[in-house]
Amino acid sequence: MEKSYLDTTVNVYKEAALKPDVGLCCTTTPVWVLPELEMPSIMLEMNYGCGSTVHPRDLVNSPTVLYVGVGGGMEVFQFAYFSRRKGAVIGIDVVDEMLEACQNNLKEAEKLNPWFQADFVDLRKGDAIHLPIEDESIDVAAQNCLFNIFEKEELKKAIAEMYRVLKLNGRLILSDPVTEDPMPESLRNDEKLRALCLSGSLPLDEYIKMLTDAGFGTVEIRAKRPYRILDPKHYETDKTIYLESVEVCAIKDPMPEDGPCVFTGKTAIYYGDEDFFDDGAGHILLNNQPIAICDKTAKKLASLKKDDIFISPSTYFYDGGGCC
Ligand SMILES: C[S@@+](CC[C@H](N)C(=O)[O-])C[C@H]1O[C@@H](n2cnc3c(N)ncnc32)[C@H](O)[C@@H]1O
Repeated sequence: MEKSYLDTTVNVYKEAALKPDVGLCCTTTPVWVLPELEMPSIMLEMNYGCGSTVHPRDLVNSPTVLYVGVGGGMEVFQFAYFSRRKGAVIGIDVVDEMLEACQNNLKEAEKLNPWFQADFVDLRKGDAIHLPIEDESIDVAAQNCLFNIFEKEELKKAIAEMYRVLKLNGRLILSDPVTEDPMPESLRNDEKLRALCLSGSLPLDEYIKMLTDAGFGTVEIRAKRPYRILDPKHYETDKTIYLESVEVCAIKDPMPEDGPCVFTGKTAIYYGDEDFFDDGAGHILLNNQPIAICDKTAKKLASLKKDDIFISPSTYFYDGGGCC
């Protein structure tokens, strides 16, 4: 416990552990429905995330998963659905009451799901900025609606910790609010609002840069949705602030010499007279076939100033494939 804002965070989540607070942080995005997965209602009431970090395509071959900031346990339970072995999912939280609530909820899940054992999840007390986890031991790491609470120095440490514990090519899946609107200092420094995931948001580019600065060679923006409004009538702000929530995957790929590959959902389409266009840098664009491209490739293709290549804007919906 190094900083006073952690005290506020601990108090907020101690309360949220003792008395479920429907609507705290969470969005109304639908919760995964999967065959033979029965979600206990208490886990739904304690869904304190702002998106999903559980994506089946990250979860093949029974990966070892680290989940930081467990809340009521909904996502550790969903991760366990894919790994299905003792201790495959390690859940970390700094709040004793939250760990206890999560453990109880996992026991509820065990009653409802014949395939599930509560010991598939190994709950440990710990702080995101000093993870009690060995170097390079994790396939998939995740956090949902926790990192936005941190001030920049702590956020840097928390990302560095995730990078340290991931194996080479391991994946860090994140879900957090972001904002492109300026956040007044009074709100940014309000510990309670930060703890409630309302005022710690960064602009998306800054959030991505913190990931690539930590060494992640590939970053995917998988979803971006409206999240919250902070308006002058209810918050100390002159202007309305629009928050969005993003789902991001940062992959511990080696850093390419020409910089990270960041996929924000751009697509290129070649529509010239040939069967394909070869940019000489490893990208073949088949005639009138869309190809997902990272922002670096989009910039390079645009610099060719060809009038037969269309480059779409960022859709912030990237689900695999394409260049790099
Ligand atoms: C907004 S809730 C999100 C809970 C969960 N991820 C979900 O999606 O429902 C934040 C969680 O992080 C935990 N937490 C807060 N600060 C932490 C820290 N420094 N290290 C680890 N966990 C922390 C809280 O106790 C709480 O469980």
